[in-house]
Amino acid sequence: MAFEIRATGSAVPPNKVTNDDLAERIDTSDAWIREHTGIGARHIADENTATSDLALEAARNAVAALAKKTGESAEAVAASIGFIITSSVTPDYNGFPSVSCLVQDALGAKNAAAMDVCAACSGFIYGLEVAAGLLSRNAGQKRALIIGAETLSRLTDWEDRSTCVLFGDGAGCVIMEKTDAPVSGDGARGLLRSVLGAEGSGKEALINRRGGSREPYKKGAVVERPPSIEMDGRAVYNFAVRAITGTIEKLLAAEHFTIDDIAVIVPHQANARIVQAASKRLHIPESKFFLNIEEYANTSAASIPIALDELERKGCLSPGNAVLMVGFGGGLTYGGNIVIW
Ligand code: ACO
Repeated sequence: MAFEIRATGSAVPPNKVTNDDLAERIDTSDAWIREHTGIGARHIADENTATSDLALEAARNAVAALAKKTGESAEAVAASIGFIITSSVTPDYNGFPSVSCLVQDALGAKNAAAMDVCAACSGFIYGLEVAAGLLSRNAGQKRALIIGAETLSRLTDWEDRSTCVLFGDGAGCVIMEKTDAPVSGDGARGLLRSVLGAEGSGKEALINRRGGSREPYKKGAVVERPPSIEMDGRAVYNFAVRAITGTIEKLLAAEHFTIDDIAVIVPHQANARIVQAASKRLHIPESKFFLNIEEYANTSAASIPIALDELERKGCLSPGNAVLMVGFGGGLTYGGNIVIW
């Protein structure tokens, strides 16, 4: 039983905000942001667009791509989805209804169970493994829609230059299908292996502290600042380099692969310097890593599926290519997958 990625989709808001645009509002510069992060711009949702709107647009793109491939109608593809799993740290609502339920309704995925997973920027990586587990246990279901979607601009303190330059909005997704293809040896297809992990002891390094059950907003209290991302940038940087290198090493060893067996590494797009440090430590050429952070900045759980969709649309992925995805994020969480395209 194989769990193949059959289609991808993505969506970003049209409003592109460059580093120079930000430099007009806060004390920063294009040169600083590029040199320290590799970021050139980010796309920011308008006030009428919430996370599920971006998730839905990405999902519709993936459904249309699969319908084109198989000759099914878009309605039939939507109805064939058995599970929707979305990862987001910026859901439309605090807790419920989930983004997945909102997408399920709007997409017409009337036969899908729907839930969100909470693993911050590693959420899409976790979502792929959760989806494969659900599909393997449910004989009657053959497809799952796995989404990463964020409107991080809503969780950004736009007066804090050390964080606000880093983030952007967007959504990406894949449709996974259970098939009879082999999962090892020649002709292997789909999700081969995942490595998932967490270091909850690092929770303070990346935290959205206020507005939850530990620090709820109280009636009558003045909310001076909306909830926002608090980050110890140096601690996250060190964790990220360690998480990326360790996860890549574990995935390659478990599959008895060398780096030459991997067509492309798709890392979470948090900071180009994190990827450069990991590539140096692992002696893997930087060219093996796909980066589009310059255009989109850090879109958390959406960054890996947005990158996958770009690679797919540009024709960079061929059947049989091994794609290694690796992510890290709040929690702290980390993980990676190897998928044969
Ligand atoms: N523009 C200009 N100067 C700035 C800016 C800015 N936007 N931000 C910080 N600075 C200044 C600081 O004030 C500091 O000045 P000082 O030396 O006078 O005190 C100087 O630049 C250096 O600041 P550092 O924080 O040491 O800069 P560093 O090189 O470490 O880069 C960064 C900071 C980019 C945040 C880095 O630590 C990093 O990438 N960390 C990991 C972040 C990450 O991956 N987060 C995960 C994302 S969270 C999620 O995905 C939901």
